[in-house]
Amino acid sequence: MNILLFGPPGAGKGTQSALLVDKLKMKHLSTGDILRAAMRNGTTLGLEAKSYMNDGKLVPDSLVIGMVDEELGEIGSQSFILDGFPRTVPQADALENLLKNRKTSIGRAIFLEVPKDQLLDRLTGRRVCKGCGATFHVGFKPPQKQGICDICGAEVIQREDDKESVIRTRLEAYEASTKPLQEYYQEKGILQVVDGLGSADEVFARIQKWLA
Ligand code: AP5
Repeated sequence: MNILLFGPPGAGKGTQSALLVDKLKMKHLSTGDILRAAMRNGTTLGLEAKSYMNDGKLVPDSLVIGMVDEELGEIGSQSFILDGFPRTVPQADALENLLKNRKTSIGRAIFLEVPKDQLLDRLTGRRVCKGCGATFHVGFKPPQKQGICDICGAEVIQREDDKESVIRTRLEAYEASTKPLQEYYQEKGILQVVDGLGSADEVFARIQKWLA
């Protein structure tokens, strides 16, 4: 079964995706990760996306949909988790078509629900590894050696878009464009709202219950 994880910035989509990939051996498709890699590599896509991402705005649908189409082609017939896509109703409609052409669909759209004050704590405290992309948090999950990744030993930094002024814009973009997807997937009968509070393992246990 293919799964879609959505929710506000900092809700724990990346954290839960990593646990799901580990447990269920599914493919992970994160549009945020792909766009950041494109920026690091200086590709045309990365250059086009950079100013939107650094300002906390959504990258235009046409760019993101084309990118997801390519990624789905590479995944082939394996089950996958979509993390951070779709983020707008036009993206959700495009996804339906892309999957219909591949004779597959989304089985569950899991919405991670977390209150705004918690989101701010999670985002301002998040640190990511420059090398392997592993995620840490200064309070909830600090690296064993400050500033150094536990997994690959590279430097651990703050994401450009995790600065407080940019977080505000990201939350506004979420409210305006992504929140309506709750209703979209409710109407399709595949929405599952999951409480995103508690430890990452507690949230994971709730998700697993819905996938059983
Ligand atoms: P993206 O990278 O997708 O960012 P996001 O949706 O804002 O989500 P985040 O990565 O910030 O948070 P998350 O929910 O994955 O939380 P995480 O697990 O890391 O997108 C970035 C940008 O790319 C967008 O702003 C946009 O410009 C562009 N973009 C991407 N996709 C796009 C699309 N489809 N269309 C248009 N533009 C697109 O957790 C956050 C922190 O909390 C971490 O430190 C973690 O350790 C901690 N944490 C997690 N779970 C818990 C827990 N249970 N308890 C305590 N701490 C926790």
